[in-house]
Amino acid sequence: TIKGFAFDLDGVITDTARFHAQAWHKTADAVGTPWSETLANGLRGVSRMDSLELILRTGGHEQDYTQAQKEALAQQKNDNYQALIQQLTPADILPGILQFLDELQQAHYLLSIASASKNAPFILDKLGIADRFDGIVDPNTLHQGKPDPEIFIRAAEIIHLPPTQVIGIEDAIAGIAAINAAGEVSVGIGDPQVLSAANINFKDTQALTLKHIQQSVYFQS
Ligand code: G6P
Ligand code: MG
Repeated sequence: TIKGFAFDLDGVITDTARFHAQAWHKTADAVGTPWSETLANGLRGVSRMDSLELILRTGGHEQDYTQAQKEALAQQKNDNYQALIQQLTPADILPGILQFLDELQQAHYLLSIASASKNAPFILDKLGIADRFDGIVDPNTLHQGKPDPEIFIRAAEIIHLPPTQVIGIEDAIAGIAAINAAGEVSVGIGDPQVLSAANINFKDTQALTLKHIQQSVYFQS
């Protein structure tokens, strides 16, 4: 029986995935790694340091920077990113998300946040929806980033459910892999070709409704 939902934040609840991409694009330019759609998709949902490593590896620059220089690059990216999220307001919640949260709360599902972002509490606060969630995973306590299942296992734990009773919602390839490995039902938001590993797919948040999820063979009421 499904009793809870674990939400990714960036790219699912609000379009901050585009700000992450914008800031990483700058980093890629600075280190001389060509930017591409494949790189952008590979970065989605991936932790800050893992993202930097992927950018360096993609350009063949993994040996070119010391640990201290890498930390400086990551800090610079976060500074650029934080400048972009200062102006977020409740109007930046993606279409259909508030209605979906209402539906879930009325049906008494438990809700948690499974975002790898250390900026997630700030963003939820800016969007005015922090109090809608029963739990938020603290990414500082994680050992492994997505695609490792740890964050989604924790997202079930903090709402006191086994993963089999939880549906995870993600816009990232790494995120869908993490949900699947956690043993939860995966819902992908975005291009079904890109998110082909998702159990259920919606092209955007507007299409995301409880009714449509309940119609899926993966939904066990
Ligand atoms: C989320 C985003 C990623 C980001 C990661 C870490 O998973 O989708 O793009 O790299 O969080 O975010 P942070 O804000 O802590 O750098
Ligand atoms: Mg995301």
